[in-house]
Amino acid sequence: MKEFPRNFLWGAATSAHQVEGNNIYNDWWLAEEAGAIKEASGRACSHYELYSEDFAIAGQLHHNCHRFSIEWSRVEPQEGNFDPLEIEHYRKVIADLKSRGIQPVVTLHHFTNPAWFSRRGGWVNSGLQKYFLRFTDKIVREFGAEVKFWITINEPLVYSSHAYLLGAWPPKKRSLFETARVTFNLAQAHIKAYRLIHKIYKENSLDKPMVSIAANLQAFELCRPTLKNRLSVYLRHKLYNLYFIDELFRRKTLDYIGINYYGRNLVDVESWGIRHLLLDTCKYNHHPLRKNSLGWDIYPEGLYKLLLAVKKYNLPVLITENGICTEDDDLRWDYIREHLLQIHRAIQDGIGVMGYIYWSLIDNFEWDKGFTPRFGLVHVDYGSQKRSVRPSAEKLAQVSASGII
Ligand code: BGC
Repeated sequence: MKEFPRNFLWGAATSAHQVEGNNIYNDWWLAEEAGAIKEASGRACSHYELYSEDFAIAGQLHHNCHRFSIEWSRVEPQEGNFDPLEIEHYRKVIADLKSRGIQPVVTLHHFTNPAWFSRRGGWVNSGLQKYFLRFTDKIVREFGAEVKFWITINEPLVYSSHAYLLGAWPPKKRSLFETARVTFNLAQAHIKAYRLIHKIYKENSLDKPMVSIAANLQAFELCRPTLKNRLSVYLRHKLYNLYFIDELFRRKTLDYIGINYYGRNLVDVESWGIRHLLLDTCKYNHHPLRKNSLGWDIYPEGLYKLLLAVKKYNLPVLITENGICTEDDDLRWDYIREHLLQIHRAIQDGIGVMGYIYWSLIDNFEWDKGFTPRFGLVHVDYGSQKRSVRPSAEKLAQVSASGII
């Protein structure tokens, strides 16, 4: 029997474009319409209409926090025109959560951009950061009094690499130079947004907020102990896992560390060259582990190792995402339980983990992979939009209710 700290945050996450439906003003919608993405998000989970029903389920599951994103392109569909009705929508979303005793954890950027922003060059263009800051200013002035936890940018490196290096997400580029530029601009945008959020709270005499990013961390492990592989693991850990956190820590713009963790990345580099060193993985089934339905390796111990790796910052940690897509709900529960045990182990070792947010509350639109992967604690029938709570969700609910696993 393991006990989690009192006041531990228990919850699940979503992001606007993946669940709301009809986000017609963003770059993803345009790419979907143009046939550049295999499946279109369409009405997704109709969460825009059904949020209260979904939060009622989260409440029944004893969640005391919920992570979601505010869709910039809804709030500002044309440059400079903020839509008051959409601001009211998110005010109701936050009020609904709070009425159920669920603390909102709000993300400002979760992969999507307003179409007008992308047309002008998006994150490659450093001159456009000011628009993200204006949106941040607007949202934080509106909701600061109701929200303590903010995530400025979700997985900056996943975004920059998928959109600018791998050519998988809009605008589907394959340029190392642009990837570096976007990554740099996202770091700058976070630093400025962090300062802005704190300034607004101070001006309004609000208690200090907790502001961070959600960093995707991967357990990079050696397939074979060759020199290339060793160098690659070292580089990927330094650049992919720690570059952003290091930089933001150095600039004193992290109140906690938000970690999204899914599993292992088994490194096996084919030949010398920067792309190989940064991207190659083992193509064979060496060192096999259990996998999710997308073929990602399940490796709970990796989370423990990564928590140890961020201990040096001496900051609180929030697990802002951890989850599995699978058709096997027993495996989902094993995944959750084993990761919780590793988190508990890290807490025993003195790492200040504040909470666990499962990805995702409901099945949803998994970007370029479409609707097939099912990450939800709650099953969604996309035809009828009916929700059904999975047994793994009930098991997690027992842990969140008691704080004991
Ligand atoms: C993202 C989510 C995504 C999840 C599963 C994270 O990278 O923040 O948007 O659905 O992982 O792939």
